[in-house]
Amino acid sequence: MIVKFSRRVSRAAPVLSRSLYSGQRSVSTAAPKLKVERPLTSEEIYAREDKHGAHNYHPLPVALERGEGIHLWDVDGNRYYDFLSAYSAVNQGHCHPKIIAALTAQSSKLTLTSRAFYNDVLGAYEEYVTNMFGYDKVLPMNTGVEGGETACKLARKWAYNVKGVPKNKAKIIFADGNFWGRTMAAISSSNDPSSYEGFGPFMPGFENVPFNDTAALEIALQDPNVAAFMVEPIQGEAGVVVPELGYLTKVRELCTKYNVLWIADEVQTGLARTGRRLAVDHEEVRPDVVILGKALSGGTYPVSAVLCDDEIMLTIKPGEHGSTYGGKSCGLPVLLVYFQVMEEEKLSENAQRMGEILRSELQKLPKDIVTTVRGKGLLNAIVIKETKDYDAWKVCLRLRDNGLLAKPTHGDIIRLAPPLVIKEDELRECVDIVQKTILSF
Ligand SMILES: Cc1ncc(COP(=O)(O)O)c(C=O)c1O
Repeated sequence: MIVKFSRRVSRAAPVLSRSLYSGQRSVSTAAPKLKVERPLTSEEIYAREDKHGAHNYHPLPVALERGEGIHLWDVDGNRYYDFLSAYSAVNQGHCHPKIIAALTAQSSKLTLTSRAFYNDVLGAYEEYVTNMFGYDKVLPMNTGVEGGETACKLARKWAYNVKGVPKNKAKIIFADGNFWGRTMAAISSSNDPSSYEGFGPFMPGFENVPFNDTAALEIALQDPNVAAFMVEPIQGEAGVVVPELGYLTKVRELCTKYNVLWIADEVQTGLARTGRRLAVDHEEVRPDVVILGKALSGGTYPVSAVLCDDEIMLTIKPGEHGSTYGGKSCGLPVLLVYFQVMEEEKLSENAQRMGEILRSELQKLPKDIVTTVRGKGLLNAIVIKETKDYDAWKVCLRLRDNGLLAKPTHGDIIRLAPPLVIKEDELRECVDIVQKTILSF
């Protein structure tokens, strides 16, 4: 029964009208006409999104219409170097021909079966990805944040069924500065007010320790009700915060010592971005659970994956978790091609080498403007010292004017993360653009 509104509601399907709820605006029942008389200018594109779309992002003013490799083009035909790679989702470059060919071929044959039935591609992907990363099983989802949710659910189930934590007492520990998405659970673990403020109440059973602090972690893990410690090997959204060498090894040791699952969130750092297949490979350590996302589908659409062994994965039984699009058929050949491209085009090796050149060149920038340069592989950031004349946003606007697209995070940090297929001469051209831009302030 509808109790909020006193008016009687017809049992017939309602016409599309806001007046049913607000009593003010009525909406035509005819389908709205798509206005396609002439291409829109950039300004018109910004205004249209601003008027009709939610204001949950603050995009840099550039209206893009095409991408190829490391380049993007705007509606006026201007070409840019992409130094965001859709937040690391297009590691292999825009519209990689092999990925697009696989997507086109599969999507004209079979797009979605749901997991209600078997299909002829899911198993091939599962076999490949588990062999590549060395885990018994994989659970496919869509977005990175769903990967994180899945890992948390697995950890809680494992805590009750295997570790013997009393019902509803399981805890998951996170690191301050974490970012794993925008769902209620994800923001419940955040210590960034812009993520959580105004959205409470929050998920119970989540606690935080400082990042890169193994002494604090050890104290937290001594609680017998702790199921897992979830951490990014490098904190991407926090501004590419790299822990000291040895941190991941110590995390592994402590989680083993206290019988706690180590969940590595490799959604941003994984799949060659930091110069290794996984960022944990820099220390040659094996988490109990790995979450992948973003670049897994070559930027074509959302695919995420959670990898772990049977002792953890098989605690979840049929009907206890899933998603209609999780394991979508048309994405799966794309994922296999992604791995093929990653290996054939040596994306890890290239990311490692290009990253070293990039950081060593950026270190030469004036320290009174660029106070810090940090990163691994091609996941890098510079910290801009804010003054009344410039800040990271203004630097990004001028980078755009000079032909390079990057996005500020936390006001003073600019992430520099081009597609991993970038070549040395292209990278050096980009370094020139960054240098020229910084020096122009
Ligand atoms: C480390 C990490 N985990 C999870 C996510 C969430 O991924 P998605 O936006 O696909 O939900 C992000 C997104 O930036 C991320 O950086």
